[in-house]
Amino acid sequence: MIKGKFITLEGGEGVGKSTNIDFIRAYLEAHHIPLVMTREPGGTPLAEKIRGLLLASQTENISEQTELLLMFAARSQHINQVILPALSAGKWVLCDRFTDATYAYQGGGRRMDIKTIEWLERIVQGNLKPDLTLLLDAPVNIGMQRAEQRGTLDRFEQEKLHFFEDVRRAYLLQANLNPERIKVINANQSLANVQQVIIETLQRFML
Ligand code: TMP
Repeated sequence: MIKGKFITLEGGEGVGKSTNIDFIRAYLEAHHIPLVMTREPGGTPLAEKIRGLLLASQTENISEQTELLLMFAARSQHINQVILPALSAGKWVLCDRFTDATYAYQGGGRRMDIKTIEWLERIVQGNLKPDLTLLLDAPVNIGMQRAEQRGTLDRFEQEKLHFFEDVRRAYLLQANLNPERIKVINANQSLANVQQVIIETLQRFML
């Protein structure tokens, strides 16, 4: 039985996910919520190995289907080893990316068939969906500048601008289709303002 809450953080490259996930963690811990913080792809030793395969630049071309299946393979391991046990134990799970990223990157960016993603989602997740998703949204050029300043670009970050425009559009479509669950936060404003909106969103969620 699921007793804890499942919160995910989403957004394109360079929108400030890392800074804000630490902020959310600190906020929840200050409210004495038992918390597991994790990420996708990854979150278990095996899923982190899959993450390594997905993010490294490969000499061999990774097909879109291979990429999609590896995402869900890592997710299956993560759900069964980490997410479900934590939620069943009454802990909250705070996850840096989840299946909305698959709709955005593989569905939007790679233009893969949404029905295939939905089908894999059902197989791998059953009824499991996040209770709350915070989507940090910013114009692509701003996010890309931030990502480039961080140093070496991974396999996804090396994609072209139009790929990230498609990713952003697909994220916003997901938010439109799931307005109860996904809260869009304008990340193109001062960090203090972003974090104020995050607090307000969490307060409403915790009521
Ligand atoms: P991150 O550490 O920046 O979140 O890196 C993870 C990368 O993996 C990011 O570029 C988005 C990508 N990704 C997908 O393409 N599909 C997915 O389902 C997930 C979880 C991540």
